[in-house]
Amino acid sequence: MAVLVVHCGAHSTEEVLDGAEGALTAGLQVLRQGGDALEAVLRAVTVLEDDQRMNAGTGSRLNLAGEVEMDASVMDSRGQAGAVGALSGVKNPVLVAREVMRTPHLFLAGEGAVRFARETGFPEYDAATSRARRELERVEAKQRSALGGSEASEKPGPGETVGAAARDEGGYMAAANSTGGISIQLPGRVGDTPVIGAGIYAGPAGAVAATGIGEEIIRAVLSKQVYDRLLEGKDPQMACDEGVGQFPSGIPVGLIAVASSGFGAATNTRMAWRSGQV
Ligand code: GLY
Repeated sequence: MAVLVVHCGAHSTEEVLDGAEGALTAGLQVLRQGGDALEAVLRAVTVLEDDQRMNAGTGSRLNLAGEVEMDASVMDSRGQAGAVGALSGVKNPVLVAREVMRTPHLFLAGEGAVRFARETGFPEYDAATSRARRELERVEAKQRSALGGSEASEKPGPGETVGAAARDEGGYMAAANSTGGISIQLPGRVGDTPVIGAGIYAGPAGAVAATGIGEEIIRAVLSKQVYDRLLEGKDPQMACDEGVGQFPSGIPVGLIAVASSGFGAATNTRMAWRSGQV
């Protein structure tokens, strides 16, 4: 039996659960039609990137210079991986990460990643939305406010990162991630999402994707930690619970994982996610 898990990011609410369901349906359809786990996670994450409510692809947050810079990655149980960081001007960064996976490199960033995207057929695209511009204005207003905790700051923003993990009928597994970053970020900042071992990890024992505050996830090398638990034979739900459990509630984190024994999903905040089997 094949399995797929998708999430809309740490902090995402039930309001976007239909987005998770749409991504799940699209990814399961790939598996149903004989596509493999890699194709399924790419399809699911692409659907989430195209959903303007998500902080990935179209709808990505803006950095403090008012620009979209996106991170994305993909990795599979054969150890193949591809990642992009601080990538601008494309519609689906996860598909650019997939192209990087076909090269001898693992991770392309900034101008070089943009050039690579153009050379591999990704046209110029403006991923900034009016909603993202309004969110940046709210963040800047909050920063200016001596009081903080203003009405604007109480409005929930989009989640941190979207992601998917899948195992197909042949036992092949893959994970994929995509994000517009965190709400206050300098130009050039790259979070955990494209960092192999931090925001993503996969190998023969399973596939893991993380969401949350990138700097903390990188420090913890979180996805590799969770993967190592799978390698020890731990149930993926327990592995995710233990991964999340090491973070205090002030550091929002979420995890999804698949293994031959099943799947897991855990968070210490809100996270819209869905799983399904075919
Ligand atoms: N997890 C998303 C980021 O920190 O960029």
